[in-house]
Amino acid sequence: MALLINAYSPAEICFGMNATSFIRLVSLGIGQMLGERDEIVITDMDHDANIATWLALAPAGAKFKWWRMRDDGNLHVDDLRPLISDRTRLVACTVTAHSIGSIVDVAAVADIAHAAGAEVFVDCVHYGPHGLIDVQAWDCDYLVCSGYKNFSPHMGFLWGRFETLKRLPTFREDFIPDEPPYKVEAGTFIYENVSGMDAAVRYLESIGRNFLAENNRSRRDNIVAGMNAIRDYELVLAREMLSVLKECGATIYGVADEARLNERVPTFCFNIGTLSPQMIVEAMAEMQIGIRDGHMYAPRLMKRLNLSMDSGAIRASLVHYNTIEEVRRFGEALRAIIAKLS
Ligand SMILES: Cc1ncc(COP(=O)(O)O)c(C=O)c1O
Repeated sequence: MALLINAYSPAEICFGMNATSFIRLVSLGIGQMLGERDEIVITDMDHDANIATWLALAPAGAKFKWWRMRDDGNLHVDDLRPLISDRTRLVACTVTAHSIGSIVDVAAVADIAHAAGAEVFVDCVHYGPHGLIDVQAWDCDYLVCSGYKNFSPHMGFLWGRFETLKRLPTFREDFIPDEPPYKVEAGTFIYENVSGMDAAVRYLESIGRNFLAENNRSRRDNIVAGMNAIRDYELVLAREMLSVLKECGATIYGVADEARLNERVPTFCFNIGTLSPQMIVEAMAEMQIGIRDGHMYAPRLMKRLNLSMDSGAIRASLVHYNTIEEVRRFGEALRAIIAKLS
């Protein structure tokens, strides 16, 4: 995992149950160190796992600043700057919105936060399968991922800078070394899942080897080549999906401008007029197309988009093993269902 995300050292990787429990673990630690710096910046575009876990620090004295998504479907760093001051303890934001697919410029977030002495916690769960992760280039302080989105069994992992994790108060039994990763990994972890994660990283490397001329590259070189190839290919899928959805008359939430495709992954959130998302998803399932409906664990974003928590929206998620033909078949199926339900 250290190779996958370009950690400074493998000791910075901590394995555990899932992303949510890791975000809470870090928030509990930070809650004990607030002092004068008591402001936390959160966004209205994140999964609630990276919002509610920070809001839970209100009783510890934390104050919150909301970094809000613009109507163009993304967070803009220009809107972050005025929220940051010498009171800011942390900026918690996603790398990519799991609901609408928008990619945040996390390196710019880190620049702004660090200039004010604040730290950055990034939720990389949804970006994980779609592009190259590089904690050194992003210069963030904490990052969390979930195995099941990274083609592995479900187990989360937390990365933090070694010294940052060393300072973080955590629970550990007295006989456990007061050092990362041990001080973060409570109890015995699930070795078979770690083994599955290792296999997933090797799979991504194997993709990269197809794109490198020489065979004596490092494992990280293969990962870089593999993830960049995935990103390039997914942009082709995203372009096709955008055009299919527009032809179907969908209301697309998030980045819907072809010229800004580099700001998104091929995760599309949409509605078709006032048709029920649930009915569309069920009809698509009958045609062997697996998509989702609902609030996607993003209640604040649903509110922001004027969507009901009950019905929400439809989400179609593509990854590198999907094909253009599948996107076209998706379009044909959706058109047939719209004609039937309208
Ligand atoms: C962006 C994002 N963050 C956090 C989570 C929560 O992850 P976990 O189920 O590993 O706690 C998810 C789950 O889908 C997610 O998509």
